[in-house]
Amino acid sequence: MNSILDGVSTLAIVCSQWGDTAKGKLVDYFSEWAEVVARGTGGANAGHTVWIGGKKYIFHLVPSGILRSHVANIIGSGVVLEPKTFLDELDVLKGEGISCENLHIAHNAKLVLPAHIALDRIRESKPGKIGTTGRGIGPSYEDHYRRIGLVVNDLLNPRVFEAKLKRNLEDKVISLQGYDHALVREVMESPALGSGALYHDKDVFDVGTIRKLYLSYGERLAPFITDTDTLLRSWIGSKKILLEGAQGNMLSVDYGSYPYVTSSDCSVHGLTKGVGLTVADVDKCLMTAKAFYMTRVGEGSFPTEMGGPRSALWCGTKGMCRAAEEREFPFTSLDPAGPEFEFGIAVRQVGREYGATTARPRRVGWFDLPLLRYSLGINRSSKQELALTKLDVLDNCPEIKVCTAYCYQGPDYQINRRTLRAGDLMDVAIPHDEVLQHCRPVYTAFKGWMSSTSHLKAWSELPPPLSYLVNFVRGSTGVKVSLLSVGPSREQTIVG
Ligand code: IMP
Ligand code: MG
Repeated sequence: MNSILDGVSTLAIVCSQWGDTAKGKLVDYFSEWAEVVARGTGGANAGHTVWIGGKKYIFHLVPSGILRSHVANIIGSGVVLEPKTFLDELDVLKGEGISCENLHIAHNAKLVLPAHIALDRIRESKPGKIGTTGRGIGPSYEDHYRRIGLVVNDLLNPRVFEAKLKRNLEDKVISLQGYDHALVREVMESPALGSGALYHDKDVFDVGTIRKLYLSYGERLAPFITDTDTLLRSWIGSKKILLEGAQGNMLSVDYGSYPYVTSSDCSVHGLTKGVGLTVADVDKCLMTAKAFYMTRVGEGSFPTEMGGPRSALWCGTKGMCRAAEEREFPFTSLDPAGPEFEFGIAVRQVGREYGATTARPRRVGWFDLPLLRYSLGINRSSKQELALTKLDVLDNCPEIKVCTAYCYQGPDYQINRRTLRAGDLMDVAIPHDEVLQHCRPVYTAFKGWMSSTSHLKAWSELPPPLSYLVNFVRGSTGVKVSLLSVGPSREQTIVG
């Protein structure tokens, strides 16, 4: 591990794609080195899968460093915290005998209220949906920017909490006026919202019940709440700090494939701001990318998607049923010469690409260099390197296609003081969905390595076709590839 961490005191891990690039595994891997692990953005929409001794853990809110007792874990001010999910996770961890004493929650982390979850779900049942995780993330961040949000610290001050809650809920009732009452009621009666316990016939939200519930959460959260921004700043340079990104750059509200994004800035900029630091505090930013395929969950353009719109539809509308349906079919033959859509299902099955938070099948596509180049540009920091993950998934694939450029298909589109026209080539993505949806990938085909990589320990052991591909990525981006992940466990990591 040493060379990759030489001279590094603060390491950031950020996904360059649409999330789900095994950041959780890497954070766990580096938490052997780290003394502090901090999250700065997102909320319970994130799902990190971590394997310990053959046991699978999925965390939504608790930072992945919690598994190491020597590590201080921080939930930063940029995070939206849903107390019930968080407390449920604490209970699970305690049940596994894992200590949560060394955990700190920012006093100014944003609170997710039941009304946020309700609004998220109600909006998503209408046309124009984003394909959110239904965890109330968007509405909670919206309230922050509208200056009517609540923060974790409010839970410690019942009078403040009650006044802010009332004001917030009045606003939510107005927001819900355009929606059918039966739909509102149905959502309020879902298990995610206490199966109707928080519902009030006239006022929609039962303020008294919510108040009582949240203040009881506050009592349990109290020992963890502190000024994490100041704490973290005081540790810069003296402690080894690992900043754990959530989602991925292409889901960033500021830099991603807008509007099909989450509501926080998932880049290194949002991550550092969300823990009270700046990019200048980061000694190295490790950008993760799944290779040599990638995934996306939810709506929005995906130029290299295997099976195109058919796959998007299959994974979208009826996502949850599809996961069950796919388990019935043995689509495991990785033959890219066959139909693309079926090939995509095979990749999904081999890669176990089903959402950690929602169980939806993830849409799969080929590795996309224009998108990667774009993300690397946005996340420039003093030292940037690449981590290629899930390399073992395509072990048995005879041919690997890499998207090296996009060919724009029209219509004419004005951008950056020029006109994009049909036939124009791009080697760096323009992230707007209006552009991405009309981009056809230009592929270069490479020979697959056709051997198992999951036991490999050193760069020198890479099969030549894989080594060639890794070098190709480095050459095509100008960024050093310093880590390869060839399986879910800590040991299946090659660094240098
Ligand atoms: P939200 O974050 O729940 O508002 O969802 C907005 C978009 O981000 C949707 O397309 C989600 O599928 C996607 N998204 C949110 N969290 C994750 C994640 O952890 N991995 C992958 N996609 C995510
Ligand atoms: Mg995930």
